[in-house]
Amino acid sequence: MAEEKVLVTGATGKVGRELVPLLLDAGLEVKAGTRDPERARRLLGSKVEVVELNYARTETYSHALTWADRVFLMPPPFSPDSDSVIGAFLDWAVAARVRHVVLLSGMTVGDWTDLALRKVELHLERQDTDHTILRPNLYMQNFHPGFISRQLQDGGPVRLPAGQGRVSLVDVRDVAAVAAQVLTGEDHFGSALTLTGSSALSMQEAVGIISSFLPGTVAYQPVSDEEYRAILEEEGWRDGEIQVILGLFESIRAGGREPVLPGVEEILGRPPRTFQAFARELGEDWS
Ligand SMILES: NC(=O)c1ccc[n+]([C@@H]2O[C@H](COP(=O)([O-])OP(=O)(O)OC[C@H]3O[C@@H](n4cnc5c(N)ncnc54)[C@H](OP(=O)(O)O)[C@@H]3O)[C@@H](O)[C@H]2O)c1
Repeated sequence: MAEEKVLVTGATGKVGRELVPLLLDAGLEVKAGTRDPERARRLLGSKVEVVELNYARTETYSHALTWADRVFLMPPPFSPDSDSVIGAFLDWAVAARVRHVVLLSGMTVGDWTDLALRKVELHLERQDTDHTILRPNLYMQNFHPGFISRQLQDGGPVRLPAGQGRVSLVDVRDVAAVAAQVLTGEDHFGSALTLTGSSALSMQEAVGIISSFLPGTVAYQPVSDEEYRAILEEEGWRDGEIQVILGLFESIRAGGREPVLPGVEEILGRPPRTFQAFARELGEDWS
């Protein structure tokens, strides 16, 4: 049987960058979707074919989709309208007879009906196409290179509206490893998999662990939604994105991100990577 062909959307993103080499190593044919092919080639190297893909430009869809057997589908981060953005792309994928779609969603998304990402999940579940939904918790890599990175690099304090809420942070490398496993078999067709790390930490504990691997001391400072909105506005986030980010922290304060679940270990046959190990690597990189 010919090797399966996988289109990885968001291939330059945190999960996508880890997923592409795993799929290539597994012997699959891979195309990496990006809005900026030149930049993507620099980031991903020459082993993978890069294709232009922009959800906002339907003329970029067909080239990537008519080729693919399976699609790793990544909604743009913190998008308040990912349902309309991704919905059209999904319809094209179904029409192009893609046989399996793996959607990168988020923990607790299944608990809501009015969330844009939940609408994407429901839209996918209504299709005849086989699908798998991945629902990871907050990534460790939000501390670096993600949206918390700037505060950390400035030496803190890391100001977040997380209160004393605890989060079972997950490493994107585990999310990518699960995605690779799901995309190379048929065992998880029709499943929604919640992916967490192995322990739930408060932001104070998480920042404390990172700080212990850095030369100076970085503190955590809980702030209100309004204070955090001002920080995000200053960093250039748009209003709709800010609403999504504030919703995420609301679910952290309410305890929705605290459960430690066995998904990663069940699928990978090993425990999830620890926050301690992530923080140690970060400290080594920065020194
Ligand atoms: N961050 C978290 O903690 C977290 C936790 C759970 C789930 N998730 C899920 O992961 C998704 C992505 O978040 P992330 O933080 O992982 O993002 P990320 O690493 O920052 O990646 C963003 C990616 O989006 C691509 N992109 C942006 N706009 C696009 C468009 N119009 N068309 C095509 N590609 C576009 C970018 O690719 P180019 O610039 O190369 O085009 C980039 O690869 C979220 O929507 C959510 O579903 C995130």
